[in-house]
Amino acid sequence: MCGIVGMISQEEFTTIELLKALKRLEYRGYDSVGYATVEGILQKDTGEIDGFLKTVPEHRTRAAISHTRWATHGGVTKENAHPHAACGNLFFIVHNGIIENYERLRDQLHGHNYVSETDTEIIAHFIEEKIRNGLTVRESIETFIAEAKGTYAVLLLPRGEEKIYAFKKDSPLVLGIVPEGFVVSSDIYAFSDRSQKAIFFEDYEMAEVTATDYMFFKHGMPIAKEIKEFKVTYTEIKKDFPHYMIKEIHEQPAVAERLVTSLKTDQKHKLDRLSDLVRQARKVVFVAAGTSYHASLLGVHFFHETGVETQTIIASEFRNYVTCDEDTLVVAISQSGETMDVLKALKYAREQGARIASIVNVPYSTIQRMSELSLEILTGQEICVASTKTYTNQVIALLALAQKFGYDVNLDTISQRIKECIDTHEGQVKILARELRDCQDIYLIGRGLSYPVARESALKLKEIAYVHAEGMMGGELKHGTIALIEDGTPVVCLIPDEDYEMESNTREVQARGARAIIISNNSEFSPDFLLETSSDGKFAILATVVGQMLAYYIAKERGLPIDKPRNLAKSVTVE
Ligand code: G6P
Repeated sequence: MCGIVGMISQEEFTTIELLKALKRLEYRGYDSVGYATVEGILQKDTGEIDGFLKTVPEHRTRAAISHTRWATHGGVTKENAHPHAACGNLFFIVHNGIIENYERLRDQLHGHNYVSETDTEIIAHFIEEKIRNGLTVRESIETFIAEAKGTYAVLLLPRGEEKIYAFKKDSPLVLGIVPEGFVVSSDIYAFSDRSQKAIFFEDYEMAEVTATDYMFFKHGMPIAKEIKEFKVTYTEIKKDFPHYMIKEIHEQPAVAERLVTSLKTDQKHKLDRLSDLVRQARKVVFVAAGTSYHASLLGVHFFHETGVETQTIIASEFRNYVTCDEDTLVVAISQSGETMDVLKALKYAREQGARIASIVNVPYSTIQRMSELSLEILTGQEICVASTKTYTNQVIALLALAQKFGYDVNLDTISQRIKECIDTHEGQVKILARELRDCQDIYLIGRGLSYPVARESALKLKEIAYVHAEGMMGGELKHGTIALIEDGTPVVCLIPDEDYEMESNTREVQARGARAIIISNNSEFSPDFLLETSSDGKFAILATVVGQMLAYYIAKERGLPIDKPRNLAKSVTVE
């Protein structure tokens, strides 16, 4: 949540270029935006970057910091937008994270005038006071690091001095090495179009960056850091699509094929090692949040089919429900590799001696760096806040892993099946979306293979189309929720193959007047959407693709901001 980008360069750049780099991180939050330059120019406002770009004049500079906000402390106002400064305006600050003890830190300071309601502003006042007391900027930052509680990635830009200080704990931060200087940002996407070389900050590290050099410190001592080279397929252009979401839905055949190939070639060794780790473990627990959790639910089901019992738990509840020891393997599933709840769960698991592996999209993300082994799902950047292509590839990675234990699935046909599914059903989904345009509630039911699909499709409908949607186990519906079914209530029924129990659940809702929308690969059930696939993991992928398209086209009918839905952020780096 919140994206930060600092740029420092031997050659002048414009604030428009800075904001364009920031825009690549806008999926991290879009409540407000702002920047400050080394010359002391400060611009900020509520709203998204595109609107902001139209209102601010262009400045040329050689050092500047910027911020796109997902509000935590303090409402969405111009005053609360970053950058922040302290009373003396000696420097500017941008911050991603939460300073938990900001009130206590504020009580230590005297005579300061606060202009925002944010926790961030305390960082500026705290450091300014230390500087006034005679400490250097670096010593002041070290004092802050020693006293602050919470999570932070912070950039500090002194006025009039071409230098950026960067420091972090728990929130992600990376130094990109670009031809003319450096970019310091929340993640690699801010500069991955210009460079694939970066240095990743670990907790409590600080860097002092000029246009020609950088130095890293930890606890006041200089440290050596390794430059990593990473690969991403950069896809910023929407091409012929009106939204990134539908572009990313259509990218699924290509990214699926890329992953299937990689799991047989360059990632084969990693896949084998991951299956060894699963074999060696007494207990295997997946941990994930949001869409990634739904992929993990499918993972548990695939393993179950092979006789290997695993479990999954939503990351924010991990500590409350799971115990780990040295014989436990925890497998994190995360698109961003930065979700704070997942990170906290992994730290807890590691403290208890568990081994950590992961399935991630973003290379060198914190979760990947915490893992002894990490599979990459290789979808390239996903820009729409709601996940589509990354879910599909997470499921493919889990299928490939389960296949090592005997799960029967032909991965080679997945890409083609997804393509056929989109080609065959997109037109029909559009018609259905028109029909469902004004509905208030949608229920989705599934069992086994199709239960995670029901949940994932419901999540898409909620986050993109703002429809109240519940994805449920077909068998559980009659234990309460069926009371809400009225004449015409849409219920999406996911019936793989010969699942006659699911068929009975479908009849039960139809008997109460529901408008059943049947998705099945069995023509016997007269489905609205007949999926051409066998009843293995491919059914789950294809049925979810139909759910993704339904959410997209209902949202489109409603004229909603599909790629950046209200209140959400793609990378949730606060608890
Ligand atoms: C946020 C995003 C979801 C995502 C979830 C987990 O809520 O909006 O799309 O599924 O975080 O993110 P992760 O990066 O860990 O997969």
